[in-house]
Amino acid sequence: MKFHITTFGCQMNVHDSQWLARALESRGWEEAGEDDALVYIVNTCSVRDKPEQKVYSELGRIAAHLKRDPSVFAAVGGCVAQQIGKGFFQRFPFVKLVFGSDGIAGAPNALERLAVGSDERVALLDFMPVYEEREHALAPVAGHSRQAFVNIMQGCDNFCSYCIVPYTRGRQKSRHPDAVLDECRALVESGVREITLLGQNVNSFGMDKGGAGVSFADLLRQVAVIDGLDRLRFTTSHPKDIAPEVIAAFGEFDTICPSLHLPLQSGSDSVLKSMRRRYTRDHYLAIVDALKQARPDIALTTDLIVGFPGETEADFQDTLDVMESVGYESSFSFKYSDRPGVAAVNMEPKVDSEIAAERLMRLQTLQNNITRKCLKILEGSSTHAFIEGLSRMQDGGTTSWKGRDPAGRIVNVATDEGGDLVGMMVPVRITEAKKHSLVGERNGEPW
Ligand code: SAH
Ligand code: SF4
Ligand code: F3S
Repeated sequence: MKFHITTFGCQMNVHDSQWLARALESRGWEEAGEDDALVYIVNTCSVRDKPEQKVYSELGRIAAHLKRDPSVFAAVGGCVAQQIGKGFFQRFPFVKLVFGSDGIAGAPNALERLAVGSDERVALLDFMPVYEEREHALAPVAGHSRQAFVNIMQGCDNFCSYCIVPYTRGRQKSRHPDAVLDECRALVESGVREITLLGQNVNSFGMDKGGAGVSFADLLRQVAVIDGLDRLRFTTSHPKDIAPEVIAAFGEFDTICPSLHLPLQSGSDSVLKSMRRRYTRDHYLAIVDALKQARPDIALTTDLIVGFPGETEADFQDTLDVMESVGYESSFSFKYSDRPGVAAVNMEPKVDSEIAAERLMRLQTLQNNITRKCLKILEGSSTHAFIEGLSRMQDGGTTSWKGRDPAGRIVNVATDEGGDLVGMMVPVRITEAKKHSLVGERNGEPW
């Protein structure tokens, strides 16, 4: 059976899609291009209105394939599936399955049943009270990029006032630490060199019933010393929960990469309060100081929302100030978007959309300037790039590879020697800083 998966949203969705693809492949299914699949899976994101709308246009495109083959059908998974649920069956009759993030474990079996012609409609939308282990699907094989995601938890309990995630992903459920460690060890044994631990708020790992009394700092330390692991990352971190032991770990383990995504959302204390983020600007800046002390070369990135209800020009200035003083390497920034059922829907006054757009532009201009400076000072330095694949731009007789330095910056490396460098660490000297990436030349033997 030929299937095609489209994924919107965060790394947790990307990881879920990877798992689902492998689980289907282990049943003999085959991943296919957009034009010759029979089963279309759309893994969706509901965090803002825009990604939600993309789901409906994607389903519109899939409907066109019914002309090619009337047995084509679709499955909708992830956060919009959880939000709209069976509503998809009415609007799009060729949608036969909807599944949420807890329901995904049952999706491969449901798809198998539907693919043999069953005309039922299946909704896997129940939240589970504990983290349910999914069936073991084939791990990525060596020769692949040798990077892997590992889920450590599901859901979120924070209920930031703008955010739909706690409603679409359910309550926080930590995975058993032994299961996390077993998966990490098995991945490293199979050739994986870089692991990213995933959760909506990894720093609160173990603060629910799961986690068996193990804190995130403990778990991180145990993964960091797995023999053969070269790089360890984790995301996302909520500033209110990051423990001093986690900050210290950046200075203690070479495997822990010198980068951290630490969403600020706003630099204004009053906006942070109405966002229910439960930290202040000073608290956030103290964490940043401690991180820079533990690991002076740490690269910080963030998420920012502009135009939150009630945000004034002075509040926005506070956000720009914090951006400057932290000096983020890069950031994701968004215009506030009303989401169904969240507390901020009822908060007033709403910021005029044009004002929000203008703020977003000013913020992104400042970010581009800071990014340029961060990259410029790296010219002439030496580092190593973990090669993920070929660069988009190829130039004449040389082959250009795309890799990442330990902080996660993109480094393009050209070499005229043959051979496949994917999954290798290549020593490089940085020769040029581009707008969002670095260019390097090889200055040592890959390992
Ligand atoms: N768990 C992560 C974030 C998940 S959502 C965390 O707590 O950091 C990813 C980002 O989307 C958020 O950090 C926020 O910046 C943005 N976001 C969430 N809800 C939003 C909304 N209603 N409007 C605009 N941006 C939003
Ligand atoms: Fe959303 Fe806040 Fe949870 Fe992040 S911590 S997923 S922003 S509610
Ligand atoms: Fe989007 Fe759901 Fe992730 S709303 S950001 S896919 S948790």
